[in-house]
Amino acid sequence: MSVIRVYVPCDSIARGVGADDVASAIIATAKARGDNVEVIRNSSRGMFWLEPLVEVATDAGRVGYGPVSVEEVASLFNAGFLTGTDHALSIGLVEEHRYLKTQERLLFARAGVTDPLSLTDYEANGGYAGLRHAVKIGADKTLDEVQTSGLRGRGGAAFPAGIKWGTVKGAKADQKYVVCNADEGDSGTFADRMLMEGDPFLLIEGMTIAGLTTGATQGYIYVRSEYPQAIAHLEAAIKTAEAAGYLGNNVMGGGHAFWLQVRKGAGAYICGEETSLLESIEGNRGLVRAKPPLPALQGLFGKPTLVNNVLTLASIPDILAKGGEYYHNFGMGRSRGTMAFQLAGNIRFGGLVEKAFGLTLRELLEGYGGGTASGKPIRAVQVGGPLGAWVPEAHLDTELDYEAMAAKQAMLGHGGCVVVDDSVNLAKLAQFAMHFCAEESCGKCTPCRIGSTRGVEVIQKIRDKQDQAKNVALLEDLCETMLHGSLCAMGGMTPFPVMSALRHFPEDFGLASKEVQS
Ligand SMILES: Cc1cc2nc3c(=O)[nH]c(=O)nc-3n(C[C@H](O)[C@H](O)[C@H](O)COP(=O)(O)O)c2cc1C
Ligand code: SF4
Repeated sequence: MSVIRVYVPCDSIARGVGADDVASAIIATAKARGDNVEVIRNSSRGMFWLEPLVEVATDAGRVGYGPVSVEEVASLFNAGFLTGTDHALSIGLVEEHRYLKTQERLLFARAGVTDPLSLTDYEANGGYAGLRHAVKIGADKTLDEVQTSGLRGRGGAAFPAGIKWGTVKGAKADQKYVVCNADEGDSGTFADRMLMEGDPFLLIEGMTIAGLTTGATQGYIYVRSEYPQAIAHLEAAIKTAEAAGYLGNNVMGGGHAFWLQVRKGAGAYICGEETSLLESIEGNRGLVRAKPPLPALQGLFGKPTLVNNVLTLASIPDILAKGGEYYHNFGMGRSRGTMAFQLAGNIRFGGLVEKAFGLTLRELLEGYGGGTASGKPIRAVQVGGPLGAWVPEAHLDTELDYEAMAAKQAMLGHGGCVVVDDSVNLAKLAQFAMHFCAEESCGKCTPCRIGSTRGVEVIQKIRDKQDQAKNVALLEDLCETMLHGSLCAMGGMTPFPVMSALRHFPEDFGLASKEVQS
């Protein structure tokens, strides 16, 4: 009897809802019944409401069942799920599922398909074609491809990757570094984690191409400590890549050295800001550095350093394998390629949606997300993490593009979307934004350190209907000061969620709209 392959995700989300126990139950039941089953721990497809999503390989493709609990395992066997038969938990052919079928997965092409720690699987599914090409064409032409792609940083600021890479490449120094920002502190985000857990060789490959292009020989991946599985997968994959000659003193025989190490963060949101991240890697407290000098010229240990987000670096192998022009053909305007949107908060179908820029927020939240989990109307969505603006339902037809969002005084950031329904008070959330800033401020500059604490108090006074006109004016003034006077975007962007809540939902503050100036 030939072996039947059954896939059970090892992604943290799936494990958090019992995937390990389900995998064990499948192995034990198959053994007891004499079925010849191999259980493979794949990564997640990003359809979280279906986790643990168990897949069975059949001649027609992989058939999915989810969410599977240990209690359901016996009934799956009894129904004959090993041949892909129907069952109440069946979702049919996984890749035909409407959530997946219409996505444009470049970054997450292997998500759920491969065993994350199998280099053979990675290579068999297009892995290392990008690095091979980069070694062949050399640093100058590799940089050309990155510039042609139009890729912009996915960490939040959307700075053109090609320009940053060119600056580091052009810097003269005896040592340069590549640093991957995997701190992923934004609310509602998980794409970095999914990628590191689910396809660690992709990030390693992207960083290696970055090293060869810029002349950096050492790379660091700064991962938040809350991601132990990502850390374990990266460390295992780095060892495998070293043993296979993809990392080391002579990468793929091309004569260039590149080494990688993982560094663990300690839970401070501000350590995601690139200069305090560098301080943290150096062993110091995560205090923001004034710019200039830019990290690209004087970064880690004072040396030229390329700092990029996980998804920026992980986009590179495909750009090299298929060409910058191929990547540039996705998207709209100045937002090129695809974006990993993350649906979270009060949403029916939470998970990962990778699409070319240009779909609307409504298509994302209603088309993919299915509206709220509570079944109540969507009232607002915060896009881009805790410093992102609240976008009201009336603006859901905005295209997901950096410039289109900015035109609505909102942002795209890292692509996280936190949805709230009409039971939520936005004044409370505006106050929380100030509170979050007060908690997470590094304390280096006054507008953020003091302003955020005063912001919490002023919003409380407005909510308590104390001298409202005067306190609204004070809040607006305070936000202006934080916006223009803060040293980094922590204090500089906290006004976004506050002012957007005030602008779009004055009634939640106990105000009539005419009382709000901006
Ligand atoms: C308070 C704060 C937190 C940040 N957190 C992150 C983070 O968790 N991950 C990230 O990639 N970028 C984060 N950034 C942005 C980084 O400073 C930097 O712009 C980014 O790592 C550059 O990479 P990119 O060009 O690939 O986007 C944060 C910025 C600020 C101000
Ligand atoms: S804005 Fe806040 S986090 Fe940024 S440097 Fe100033 S005090 Fe530190």
